[in-house]
Amino acid sequence: MRALGFDVGGSAVKAGAVDQDGGRRREARREVPADVNFDVLARLLKELADELGPAEAVGVGVPGLLDRAAGRVEVSPNLPWLQGGDLRAAAGAATGIAAARVQVENDANAAALGEAWLGAGRGVDDLLCVTLGTGVGGGLILGGRLVLGAGTAGEIGHVKVDPLGPPCGCGGRGCVETLASATAARRRAIEAGLPADDPGDLEQLGERARAGEAPEAQLLARIGRDLGYGLAAGLNLLDLRTYVIGGGFAAAFDGLEPGIRAGLREGSYGRRVDELTLVRAELGSSAGWIGAARAALVAAGH
Ligand code: BGC
Ligand code: NA
Ligand code: ZN
Repeated sequence: MRALGFDVGGSAVKAGAVDQDGGRRREARREVPADVNFDVLARLLKELADELGPAEAVGVGVPGLLDRAAGRVEVSPNLPWLQGGDLRAAAGAATGIAAARVQVENDANAAALGEAWLGAGRGVDDLLCVTLGTGVGGGLILGGRLVLGAGTAGEIGHVKVDPLGPPCGCGGRGCVETLASATAARRRAIEAGLPADDPGDLEQLGERARAGEAPEAQLLARIGRDLGYGLAAGLNLLDLRTYVIGGGFAAAFDGLEPGIRAGLREGSYGRRVDELTLVRAELGSSAGWIGAARAALVAAGH
């Protein structure tokens, strides 16, 4: 069976096709225009589907809290234009698949499914995959299966690290997302007097920290620690031993890792943090669409 996956993000819609065994991958992407709305998204999905060719299963990953039964996003702090649109119908129309058979999944859940299938989480039954991008998303896998709870489990980005911290798109304050997303890293870099305007600057931040530049290393250590406090929720509640860090800001993984471990150590109780597996995701910006395709394959019985 051939599956199509879409990953809807703030700056681009990524898509791809993959066979049920993970082979014969093809990818395509479209930038999201500044005047995007739901109809524009529907058109981009159609262009991508036409480029990638026919498939028997379709999945869509989107940021925010979903109404899975309706195939819609209820709340999306970073992409409010997505809210309410009939994603299932749009992806069905784009691909010629019956809308009822389109799987809609949270973007970070999709990334976790992708990493667990073909990336850094291969062969691991229990893991938390965190995506550091415009926001911070999480996907929790236990016993080899994605955990949904009543529908929206895994929202590590809105775990509060500092109740007096920066305001968050969710209406709260000091969420992990306000301290450790790519957006937050850019803001914190500027506050520290470091360059951050260019998208490449965040990667540079990691490289300069690696090269021993103190301000960069200190900033990444602080950001990592805040993320580690959030991840400690996974350790304290679930005794999770594997944490996969993905998304664009994972480019700074090496610089973040010591801070993340410090935060995990300080934020948890009696655990041997050195023994935890903390790794960078392997699928890069393909994790989301691969996992969305995987969700569709699983739903189709594969
Ligand atoms: C949203 C999540 C999403 C994450 C990454 C967060 O702000 O609440 O649903 O997975 O951003 O896009
Ligand atoms: Na999630
Ligand atoms: Zn929040």
